[in-house]
Amino acid sequence: MQVIFKELTKSFEESLLESLIKNEKKEEFEKIRKNLINQASKEEFGDYQCNICLVLSKVYKSNPREIAIAFIKTLKENKKISNLCENLEIAGPGFINIKLKNNILIEEIKSNIKCPRAGVPLSKNNKNNHSKKTVIVDFSSPNIAKEMHVGHLRSTIIGDSISKIFELRGYNVLRLNHIGDWGTQFGMLITHLKDLYSSNLKEIDKIKISDLVEFYKASKKRFDNEKEFQKRSREEVVKLQRGDQKSIEAWKLLCNQSRKEFDQIYKTLNIKIKERGESFYNPFLKSIIKDLNYKEILVEDQGAKCVFLDGMTNKEGNPLPLIIQKKDGGYNYATTDLAALRYRFNKKPDGDNASRIIYVTDHGQSNHFAGVFQVAKRANWIPKDCEVNHVPFGLVQGIDGKKLKTREGDTIKLKDLLSESIKRAKKDLLKRLESESRFETNEFILNTSKVIGIGAVKYADLSQNRITNYQFSFEKMLSLNGNTAPYLLYTLVRISGINRKNNMTEEALKLESITYSHDLEWKLIRKLLKFDEVIISIEKDLMPNRLCNYLFELCQTFNRFYDQVPILKGDMDTKISRLTLCALTEKTLKLSLKLLGIESLERM
Ligand code: ARG
Repeated sequence: MQVIFKELTKSFEESLLESLIKNEKKEEFEKIRKNLINQASKEEFGDYQCNICLVLSKVYKSNPREIAIAFIKTLKENKKISNLCENLEIAGPGFINIKLKNNILIEEIKSNIKCPRAGVPLSKNNKNNHSKKTVIVDFSSPNIAKEMHVGHLRSTIIGDSISKIFELRGYNVLRLNHIGDWGTQFGMLITHLKDLYSSNLKEIDKIKISDLVEFYKASKKRFDNEKEFQKRSREEVVKLQRGDQKSIEAWKLLCNQSRKEFDQIYKTLNIKIKERGESFYNPFLKSIIKDLNYKEILVEDQGAKCVFLDGMTNKEGNPLPLIIQKKDGGYNYATTDLAALRYRFNKKPDGDNASRIIYVTDHGQSNHFAGVFQVAKRANWIPKDCEVNHVPFGLVQGIDGKKLKTREGDTIKLKDLLSESIKRAKKDLLKRLESESRFETNEFILNTSKVIGIGAVKYADLSQNRITNYQFSFEKMLSLNGNTAPYLLYTLVRISGINRKNNMTEEALKLESITYSHDLEWKLIRKLLKFDEVIISIEKDLMPNRLCNYLFELCQTFNRFYDQVPILKGDMDTKISRLTLCALTEKTLKLSLKLLGIESLERM
């Protein structure tokens, strides 16, 4: 209903200027007209609310109610408004309640049922191919030779969902995996590797990643304890940077090995992402220093080159530095991020021509990104009309509120966590089948438990306000009751069942004759028509939990409607009208689950 909302806002503005804003106050109008009309705070107030008369009463020092009476008179003369709105009522001291006409809502339902995006409009730049904007979502981004942990899992799930929302709105989305594949740690890893497999480097293919994590630990131990090993590791870093063939080969072997393991997780989660690790930006690091130097932003401090950040201080109140080049000449995580940012905003072919970059990491990196963004702004690397956002999220905790661990106290491996969820979903399913004396094929059981198990983990993550820490509980996320994936999937299965039984394909619905009379029908209609607004708000504030909350409410509204309104009784028009609502609910729900990265089920 965004289009209607915008139209209405515009008409209200016109009337406001016409009737209430005296010439000498025109400048103030710009300030006043923001949020001229808003969503109604309570359903019984109607669809929208206008509070402007209270604001104006302060400007003109007069009675808000009288202003409202005069305003409503002009509003009623406006053709657009009288076409859209039922009645305009004054409430309280001078609010105006706005209720849309029934036929307007019905027209919206009809058009949404035909729309492949269930009513979500394409973003205005993306309507034609030439002006499509590119959005980069930098997410997942684990590190080579280290285990992918739950933080990376959160980033992967949230990043994928945000990407999907932008894709739906027509953006060209570049999903980037900024893998940690470079840095001094490779010196010790390669040296250790060469020592162990000197006869045949190819044998690393036989090492499995859990070993590779052990391998990382073993090299670190040697690095910390053996002077001679340390020396060789440092030399190895230099060799690698110089592009020595043997060193590069060993580095590639380590990367390939890790990649295999990461890819397994992406496959289980059904995630698409393009790998472009830190090493990609190596050739651009030097020019970062050069440009910052040239712009006189770079400062030398105890041998290191850094930028002192405005408005960011340490405990002693001194400005925090962002270190760009270390004393030994080495570059930092931040240097690579600056080079990456610049490359991503650059025009093609030497860049990605992005208009917005979104970084999804835990909130522990908030300061890092604030620093990087500030330096990029000061260096003028963020083009006009372009935007950068850090999307931080909290920690994953066990039900005891502590860090998530296995019963033995070890950190949980992602693989194990996902398979545990599937295993539990399967157990629940088998129990249910037995109690209903249902027989299902093995294939059905495997697929259903996978969809539910993986869907539950994703939904539990996405339905939280991402900023807060969240407690990981299989029991809660797999429950059929509450704001969970199984509850949504169950509702979907219920609706699909009705539509299937009645042969109600979208084409079969006779939309000309739909009519509504029941209160619960109108409630469901209004909920359905809020979908586009939810999606557009996520595009702004990057909070996918809004979609989850919306879906939960939609399902509750639908289930109330389904329980209390006889869908199949009554005359043909009534039946078709009600089945139309079932069809649109199904469509909205399916599309939304897709946006959350959750597969749909026909039966469960
Ligand atoms: N590899 C990093 C980590 O594991 C995350 C990278 C996030 N992206 C970025 N452009 N810095 O913490």
